[in-house]
Amino acid sequence: MGAVTVITSGKGGVGKSTTTAHTGLALAARGRRVLLLDCDAGLGCLDMLLGVSQRRVFDLSDVVSGAASPAKAIYASPLMPGLYLMPAPLHEEDLVSSSVMRQLVPALARHYDHVLIDCPAGVGTGFRSACAAADRAVIVSTPDGISTTAAAKTRGQLLEMGVSEQRLVINRFSASFFRQAHFFSDLDAVIDAAGVQLIAVIPEDSTLQAAAVSGLPPRNSPAVLAFARLALRLEGREVPLPSLQKF
Ligand SMILES: Nc1ncnc2c1ncn2[C@@H]1O[C@H](COP(=O)(O)OP(=O)(O)OP(=O)(O)O)[C@@H](O)[C@H]1O
Ligand SMILES: [Mg+2]
Repeated sequence: MGAVTVITSGKGGVGKSTTTAHTGLALAARGRRVLLLDCDAGLGCLDMLLGVSQRRVFDLSDVVSGAASPAKAIYASPLMPGLYLMPAPLHEEDLVSSSVMRQLVPALARHYDHVLIDCPAGVGTGFRSACAAADRAVIVSTPDGISTTAAAKTRGQLLEMGVSEQRLVINRFSASFFRQAHFFSDLDAVIDAAGVQLIAVIPEDSTLQAAAVSGLPPRNSPAVLAFARLALRLEGREVPLPSLQKF
């Protein structure tokens, strides 16, 4: 039975889908079978990030309605062997209920080492549906007060839902910008504001934006290396944080 991890944030646009896609790529590069489940009904983008948008016919809502078997709505990514995607419903009104997610996700997880669920922004119905079947959560935040406040609220909502295993990803970190912006004195203050244990710091890295169009960023780009460390830590390996001055 694979581990089911929801990637969430509360605040929109902080890098949930990017983290889902690149953590999935990093886990698959380690030889794991990984299913990405796009739960951002109406605004899903993982099909584009994983290079399957041209082939997609069915999605999560078709599986739930019975129009397609799960196998028909799961697409192998051409970017990495072992990486698969079930795309999000095209329309927001086709959002899948929490009770259906609690039945479907464990059945899917039997066939994979990891299921990563890309959550929509906010803490409403879409959030609750995406988190309903999660064993654990990765909360993504950028290193600023607005995002960490949303992360802290998300933490509370997850606890109410019984998802107590939570880790923080600080995304889009740039040491020089962080010093100039004076949002926080140091990274410990960011972690304290979110109230969640850190699992990774992902640098600001323009190769990720280029990859959204062209496929894969270079294998040695700083963000790719950071996602590789995140993948190791998700599997319980202890990997030290590199010096933040390098970011
Ligand atoms: N570490 C990074 N460095 C540079 N750009 C990044 C980084 N992480 C994410 N981005 C960019 O930020 C934008 C938003 O990222 P993404 O779509 O992953 O956010 P999201 O949290 O999933 O948004 P939404 O809430 O709308 O689902 C994208 O253009 C993405 O390429
Ligand atoms: Mg997203």
